Amino acid sequence: MHGTPSVSLRLSSRPFTHSRMTFPSSIDDTQQRLQALDYVPSRELAATVFLALKLQRPLFLEGEPGTGKTEIAKVLAQMLGRPLIRLQCYEGLDMAGAAYEWNYARQMMAIKLGEGSAPGLNTEARAQELFSERYLIKRALLQAIDPSQPVAPVLLIDELDRADEPFEAFLLEVLSDYQITIPELGTIRAATPPIVVLTSNRTREIHDAVKRRCLYHWVDFPTLQRELVILERRVPDAPKALAREIVAFIHRLRQLDLYKLPGVAETIEWTRALLALDAVVLDPELISQTLGVLLKYQDDIAKVSGSEASKLLNEVRDTLRAAGFMG
Ligand SMILES: Nc1ncnc2c1ncn2[C@@H]1O[C@H](COP(=O)(O)OP(=O)(O)OP(=O)(O)O)[C@@H](O)[C@H]1O
Ligand SMILES: [Mg+2]
Repeated sequence: MHGTPSVSLRLSSRPFTHSRMTFPSSIDDTQQRLQALDYVPSRELAATVFLALKLQRPLFLEGEPGTGKTEIAKVLAQMLGRPLIRLQCYEGLDMAGAAYEWNYARQMMAIKLGEGSAPGLNTEARAQELFSERYLIKRALLQAIDPSQPVAPVLLIDELDRADEPFEAFLLEVLSDYQITIPELGTIRAATPPIVVLTSNRTREIHDAVKRRCLYHWVDFPTLQRELVILERRVPDAPKALAREIVAFIHRLRQLDLYKLPGVAETIEWTRALLALDAVVLDPELISQTLGVLLKYQDDIAKVSGSEASKLLNEVRDTLRAAGFMG
């Protein structure tokens, strides 16, 4: 039918333009620039991000749910003035869903309409025409390394643990050489490597070979102080005293034996919910009424509502008082 070209194929010869914003110059600079976009990283995360950018290595983030793993890719794209390309992983994700697939419907149509069958075109040439870029559907991974893009994007490969293990083998080629080989077309290689962020909720272990190519960081729940700063940035209308109670209460919840602990996303949502109810301080009834914003499992809700809410709130207030935050 058609042969596999042995040469490396560039989809376009358009040179890479340097319109992107510069990389941060230090860990401090990384921290400040992320914070300027309302993302409040730990010092360790800022260091890993800085190094990933500097060394051009993918960033692999594992951690608790709702702790800013996905968000950092969005913020990095904004910070560096790059487009964000997102690949959401799921069970059964394959190359057709992640990288490319041939547009069979269009190819069939072309055959029926006799496209590519200009006089003089032999069967081989017609087949080559049918397997040209024109009939290629580019999915996230191919878009991310497409050399015709003016700026290398940020590629977010989100929740990799949801994809099946064989998918990781395919990712290796992309992550090590920033290239994808399409048998009918050749090898497509990024003109400039994309900035890659991989995330996992660790429902299963990701293969060492993938991890080895990345800089790894475990995203933990933030400290009380950092979560307060996050809340200040994300819900600036929240009164300080209420914000303190909310964050301290959530930190107390995270010490309980719950099926699913509330993340930063839940802290933000809960604060918004409490503001919508015109809350000024927490009270046990308010907590019980709004637990559904924080906890998503009935067993967890049952553990915290009613008299337990009041007990936890008293403990939280004692802690805040001891830390000099309450009169
Ligand atoms: N360090 C942070 N600074 C600012 N906002 C944060 C931070 N961490 C989390 N958030 C907020 O929490 C929300 C949830 O974050 P995100 O969706 O990135 O979590 P995740 O770790 O990807 O969660 P999941 O594992 O459930 O996908 C974001 O919308 C963001 O507003
Ligand atoms: Mg996420």
